Amino acid sequence: MNLCVLGAQWGDEGKGKIVDLLTPNFSVVARYQGGHNAGHTVYVNGQKFVLHLCPSGILHAGVMCLIGNGVVVDPHALFAELDHLATIGVAIGGRLLVSDKAHLILSYHREIELLAEARRGERKIGTTSRGIGPAYEDKIGRRGVRVGDLADQSSDGPLVGAVRENVAARNRLVGNTELKWQDVVADLRTVWTRLQPLVTDVSLYLHRAIAEGRAVMFEGAQGTMLDIDHGTYPFVTSSNATAGGAATGLGVGPRAIEAVLGVAKAYTTRVGAGPLPTELLGEMGERLRETGQEYGASTGRPRRCGWFDAVAVRYAARVNGLDALAITKLDVLDGLPELQVCTAYRCNGSTVTEMPGDTAQLAACEPVYETLPGWTKPTKGITKFGDLPAEAKRYIHRLEEISGVKAAIVSTGSERDHTIVRDDSIAAKWFKR
Ligand code: IMP
Repeated sequence: MNLCVLGAQWGDEGKGKIVDLLTPNFSVVARYQGGHNAGHTVYVNGQKFVLHLCPSGILHAGVMCLIGNGVVVDPHALFAELDHLATIGVAIGGRLLVSDKAHLILSYHREIELLAEARRGERKIGTTSRGIGPAYEDKIGRRGVRVGDLADQSSDGPLVGAVRENVAARNRLVGNTELKWQDVVADLRTVWTRLQPLVTDVSLYLHRAIAEGRAVMFEGAQGTMLDIDHGTYPFVTSSNATAGGAATGLGVGPRAIEAVLGVAKAYTTRVGAGPLPTELLGEMGERLRETGQEYGASTGRPRRCGWFDAVAVRYAARVNGLDALAITKLDVLDGLPELQVCTAYRCNGSTVTEMPGDTAQLAACEPVYETLPGWTKPTKGITKFGDLPAEAKRYIHRLEEISGVKAAIVSTGSERDHTIVRDDSIAAKWFKR
C-alpha cells in the first residue's frame, strides 16, 4: 500500500504527526518537494522534534527515508539537522538517501530572496527566507547546481562554470558586497565529502522497493493552497505540494500512488501574506493561536488563524484526488460555545462554491458561514470516535459532508496516541486494523 500524505490547506496542518503515526506501516518514507522551509513537528514521549528536511519517518528505526529530486537541499541545513538528530539519540545509519537530481540551495539564493522580498514592498510574499524560491528559479532557468554535480572535481568543469556564472549574476544583483566563486566552490568540495555517501538515484531505489512489495509513503510539505500551480499564486511556495508533485518529485509513475490522504486542521491557519477568507483578526483568532500554539515551526512567526474553510478543503480534494482526510487539532476547539464553518464565498454579489482561480478575486470574497454548536467536554486524548462529545461528532460529520471526503483519522492532541483511527474508514482497510 503506497500512500501520499499531504496538506489540504495552507500548510502547518500537522502532517508531521500523521506521517510519524503512520510510519510503522511503511518501509520507506519519501519527501518530494519543498526544502527546509517546512517544519514538521512531532511529539514523542512529551519530547518535541521539529524536522525540516528529513522525512518525518526518520524517527522510526528501520525505516528508509528518501529526499527526492523535487526537493531543494541546503546542505548545511541538512547537516545541522542530522547533527541535531544525533545529539538526541536518533540513529540515522544508512537510513537517509538524497537524490542526485535534487537541486542545491546555496548561500546566494537566500541573499537574492531577501532582495526580491524587499523589492516587492507591500506586495511581499512573506517567505521563510530560506532561499527556496531562487533555488527553484535556477532549476527552472536551467542554471541550477544539482547534488550529483558536486562529483565534478575538476577545476574548469561544468560545476565550476555554473558556480562562476551564478555568483557573477549574484554580484550584479547584490551591489554592496562581492561573493567569491572560489569560496563557493571550496565550500561545495567540503559539502561533497559528507554528502556523497547519501547520494543515490532515488527514482531507481523506489522502483526496486515497490517491485519488492515494500510499502512507500510519499510525504508532502507545505499545503495545497501554497502549491505553485494550484495555490493562491503568487502567494505560494515555489513547488508542487499537491499529489502530482509526488510523481515528478520522486521519479515514480502516477499509479505508484495508490491512495492520497489529505491532512486538514479542524480550523484554518496560514503564515505569510495572501488571502485567507476565514481569517479571524480579533479575540477569537488570538484564542485559536494561543490554544493551538500557532507559531511557525521554522520561523516562529505567529500564524494567521480562522474558521474551517470547506471551500478550500473541497478544492484540495479535487486537485489531489483525496481518498480520505486526517483532521487534526480538534481539541483546540474544546470549550468554544459555537463554531463556524465556511461553506461558500460571497464574491461581487454572487455565491461561489468553488475556489476562484484569481487571487485578487479570492481576496475580495467574504466567507458564507454555517454555525454549529460547540462542546464542553474535552476531546483531548480521545482515541475512539464514539467517545467524542455528540457535538464534536456532528462537527466532523459536517466537515466531511461539505468537503466531500471522509475523515479517516482525527487527531485529538499532539502525542502519537492522541489519535482516532476510525474502524469504519478507508484507513482501517489500508492498515488492516
Ligand atoms: P517560501 O516557501 O519560503 O518561498 O515561502 C512562500 C510562502 O509559503 C510563504 O507564505 C511561507 O510562509 C509559506 N510556507 C513555506 N513553507 C511553509 C510551511 O512549511 N508551512 C506553512 N507555510 C509555509
